[in-house]
Amino acid sequence: MVDQIKILVSTMTGTAELVAEEIADAVSAKGIEAEILLMDDLGAEVLADDAVYVICTSTYGQGDVPDNGQAFMDNLEAAAPDLKGIKYGVFALGDITYNQTFCNAGNLFDAAFRKFGATRIGEIMRHDASSGELPEDQAGEWAGEWLEQLTGS
Ligand SMILES: Cc1cc2nc3c(=O)[nH]c(=O)nc-3n(C[C@H](O)[C@H](O)[C@H](O)COP(=O)(O)O)c2cc1C
Repeated sequence: MVDQIKILVSTMTGTAELVAEEIADAVSAKGIEAEILLMDDLGAEVLADDAVYVICTSTYGQGDVPDNGQAFMDNLEAAAPDLKGIKYGVFALGDITYNQTFCNAGNLFDAAFRKFGATRIGEIMRHDASSGELPEDQAGEWAGEWLEQLTGS
């Protein structure tokens, strides 16, 4: 039984936050409480036992986590928390023009969560900004399918 899902957002220009709002709407529609948290001031202590998270992140620089998520990533690596009870999903925003580093920040968060024992639900969603489709338009549908995998209904 899932009561609450926290959506952790790393963004440079706000698109990932729009995506997070759509995901939150889909979560609420299932009767599950949704909370959006920008990564800015977060540390590993936000990750509680048996909780569920969606990581919503764009990619910048050379496949890097956006500035507002960097400290959270560093803190995660340093704290090396036990995430065994945690389930998570990843919605990554990127641009295939950067083909060597497409959606890499999503891969980095996925690798860190997996390394510390968390279980990913579903595949990583990778949105391509050059596809012509807005990520916020795809987010609700993705979230619906992801929630089915999470809850089995
Ligand atoms: C300077 C710059 C560098 C970027 N680097 C990458 C990259 O390495 N890989 C990638 O997949 N997308 C890259 N992107 C694309 C962004 O991740 C994409 O446009 C995303 O939708 C932006 O979301 P945001 O507004 O939440 O930051 C880059 C964009 C800019 C402007």
